[in-house]
Amino acid sequence: MGLGLTELENRINTWKPEKISISVCAVESAQYQFNPDEIKQVSGWHPRRIREFAAGREAAHKALAKLGVPPAPLLRGEDRTPQWPEGITGSITHSGDKALAAVASCSDYLGIGIDLEQMSKFPEKVFWRISLPEEKEWIYSLGPESIQWAAPFLFSAKESFYKAQYPLTHARLGFHDVMIQLGDKTGWFTTKYNKEHPTRRYPDNSGFIGRYILLEDYIFTLSLLKAQNS
Ligand SMILES: CC(C)(COP(=O)(O)OP(=O)(O)OC[C@H]1O[C@@H](n2cnc3c(N)ncnc32)[C@H](O)[C@@H]1OP(=O)(O)O)[C@@H](O)C(=O)NCCC(=O)NCCS
Repeated sequence: MGLGLTELENRINTWKPEKISISVCAVESAQYQFNPDEIKQVSGWHPRRIREFAAGREAAHKALAKLGVPPAPLLRGEDRTPQWPEGITGSITHSGDKALAAVASCSDYLGIGIDLEQMSKFPEKVFWRISLPEEKEWIYSLGPESIQWAAPFLFSAKESFYKAQYPLTHARLGFHDVMIQLGDKTGWFTTKYNKEHPTRRYPDNSGFIGRYILLEDYIFTLSLLKAQNS
């Protein structure tokens, strides 16, 4: 028996920071009703991808409802980002049969990125492609067993950071452009740019917070940039 949707949602909601709303939806049983503009956007897609897209939207609507935001079409921008309602920031991820969405008010968070990875399905060869020498070093220092969670963690942390920063900067970063380190506290990580930030909008990225949680065979990462006065 894998991790059930309800348990996944409960565990993430117990763990998540305040003022962020996170919801989960099963890809195979999403009931999301596309509006005509959304139908145009998914026209010609593979049925599996349409179900995944619908499940992400359904999770997003559930998460928005918890913030008191009424349902509205969630169109996809030309750069593939979800076009969140005015005053809202958020992020969507899918992994296998699970889709998750996280949203918050822009008065609390300027940027949010989430990513879910199934650890047993993570191809080790990806680790070699995405990791910097410094990252390989700290992962090896954890001991030989740790690569099983640390490799998908590294990938997920970079993906969630990418999603958190992109709507703010439009910077198309590669995997070697940022360096991930574990934080001093378990469950936290830091992300540093490995080169000068393309937009100079965030000359150092110390404002971004990284958090992770292991959920049986899954790793979930959350990258956040708090609003200044929150
Ligand atoms: C965009 C990207 C991060 C998506 O990640 P993924 O693991 O392929 O897929 P996930 O299921 O986790 O996330 C997909 C969702 O991300 C969101 N997304 C897509 N492009 C995005 C962007 N530029 N910024 C923020 N979110 C984006 C969408 O909501 C998408 O789902 P949807 O199309 O159903 O709405 C990835 O495909 C990508 O292009 N990465 C760029 C390289 C990279 O990650 N570098 C890391 C270095 S920092």
